[in-house]
Amino acid sequence: MSQPAYLPSSIARARNIADLRRMARERLPRMVFDYIDGGADDEVTLARNVSRFRDIELVWEALKDVDKIDTSTTIMGAPSASPFFISPTATSRLFHPRAGELAVARAAHAAGVPYTCSTLASASVEEIAAVNPGPKWFQVYVWRDRELVKEVLARAKAAGFSAIILTVDVPVVGNRERDGANDFTVPPKVTWRTATQALAAPGYLWDLATTSEIRPANFTHIRMNTGLIDFINAQFDRAVTWDDVRWLRETWDGKLAIKGIATPEDAQRCVSIGADAVWVSNHGGRQLDTAPASIDTLPAIADAVAGKVEIILDGGVRRGSDVVKALALGANAVAIGRAYLYGLAAGGEAGVRRALDIIDSEVRRTMALCGRTQLSALSRDLIFRRALP
Ligand code: FNR
Ligand code: LAC
Repeated sequence: MSQPAYLPSSIARARNIADLRRMARERLPRMVFDYIDGGADDEVTLARNVSRFRDIELVWEALKDVDKIDTSTTIMGAPSASPFFISPTATSRLFHPRAGELAVARAAHAAGVPYTCSTLASASVEEIAAVNPGPKWFQVYVWRDRELVKEVLARAKAAGFSAIILTVDVPVVGNRERDGANDFTVPPKVTWRTATQALAAPGYLWDLATTSEIRPANFTHIRMNTGLIDFINAQFDRAVTWDDVRWLRETWDGKLAIKGIATPEDAQRCVSIGADAVWVSNHGGRQLDTAPASIDTLPAIADAVAGKVEIILDGGVRRGSDVVKALALGANAVAIGRAYLYGLAAGGEAGVRRALDIIDSEVRRTMALCGRTQLSALSRDLIFRRALP
């Protein structure tokens, strides 16, 4: 079906992720844009995730033959054309009611990068598998009802998902004040504020009105009367500990990553428990505010566990140069969140493809400018050490 309000030609004109963000803001009701764009409390961590990448300076090795750049790699056993992939985000249909997860999964497959499906996805694991025969992973929260976890893991396995990602930085949901100011809930409820915002975004409203209800598609038998955030707080177990991770390790025989790690001590615990990857993340600044920027927590974690497990990093990645910096500081791969969500909101599948393409070409250009042709050659000597403060 055609996508009238966001012509592919305008998507093609997006030069960078910031352009896609602007287009997303134009297309979405403010409350939906703010749900993607916002963070917890004063949004200190949200801002720092991005700004600390900018503080890191790259140097280059001159006069190296950079004719052939190779960005292919393996992430948790899955081949990937680029050292980045899709981070899990809840209810993608909210950001583009017609496109949603299926568009993101298709775009990831087209780009040759892994796709991660959120526990709270608005498409089922079977629907996603039908459009993405490539590498895909499933993110889990631990439900109070462990049988539900087992059930969904069995379905994910049967649908061909090869890894699970346990997110551990949401014992309770963070305080997102933009959502409160906008009366925002998932699904949206009608108040004059939400109605006024929605009427200012007619293209979005049309898509919302002419497509099926947006809800967690992998738990259809569960009612979500009071909205997503209350639902998470009510249904997910906040008493989860490392013993439950051990249980999950025993229950799931595929790859396991633990997402939301910020200290070398917790990274070591992931290693002891037999995780395949430590995922350095602060949930994009949506949980504990004033947590350090993800990139600042990476070097000590890499020093502690590199070589024992893979290291994935997310948080604040908006440029290919950010990916290069994370790899130079010890990450094996990088997950992107908002960068593709802005693309999704701006233009459905074409927008996600554009986001992935922008970051891929930026990674390649940055590598060439740094004089490195292989991902394995992205090392700490590319990070400038200031002699003067
Ligand atoms: C998220 N994130 C997330 N993480 C997760 O494990 N399960 C989830 O359901 C969600 N949902 C979600 C929704 C939205 C709108 C956003 C922006 C993020 C966190 C996500 O996977 C990732 O950690 C951050 O988005 C990374 O930061 P950047 O790339 O957005 O700066
Ligand atoms: C979020 C939760 C749902 O970040 O993971 O919005």
